[in-house]
Amino acid sequence: MKKDKSTVYDCHIIKLSQIESATGKITSVSSTLDVPFDIKRVYYLYDIPGGEKRGGHAHKRLEQVIVAASGSFDVLLDDGQIKKSINLNLPGYGLRIRPGIWRELVNFSSGAVVIAVASLIYDEEDYIRDYQEFIKFKTAILPKAE
Ligand code: TYD
Repeated sequence: MKKDKSTVYDCHIIKLSQIESATGKITSVSSTLDVPFDIKRVYYLYDIPGGEKRGGHAHKRLEQVIVAASGSFDVLLDDGQIKKSINLNLPGYGLRIRPGIWRELVNFSSGAVVIAVASLIYDEEDYIRDYQEFIKFKTAILPKAE
């Protein structure tokens, strides 16, 4: 048995590889090499209307790295005790978000594109969408991860 002890300090910026040439740049993201988990899913957010917010949830087991592939936005992280805001605006860098962290994505620039690589396929059961439930989750004893 263990508690979910992840904190906002476990979420940090990862520098991704960048191949530069006169014709443009390439960043590749490979399982375990560039991100510290096996990638099971990639999804991207785009056509985000001005003033909108995304996220507003936590994950029980999923971890992910998110990248501002184009434009910029702020990621608000919250571990139930400490809050941290990180601005993403460089496609060569990703933000690692651990399980058990409440996140909101706000202040999207026009045309912003968010790429997310995730350790699990989509599973609504892995989401915590209610903030009070999240606070309970952070203080509950969890069964040991397999
Ligand atoms: P959600 O993860 O809440 O979006 P965000 O965190 O970007 O605000 O997902 C929004 C909706 O899309 C929700 O109904 C679930 C669905 N969805 C999928 O079906 N598959 C996916 O891979 C993702 C990320 C979301």
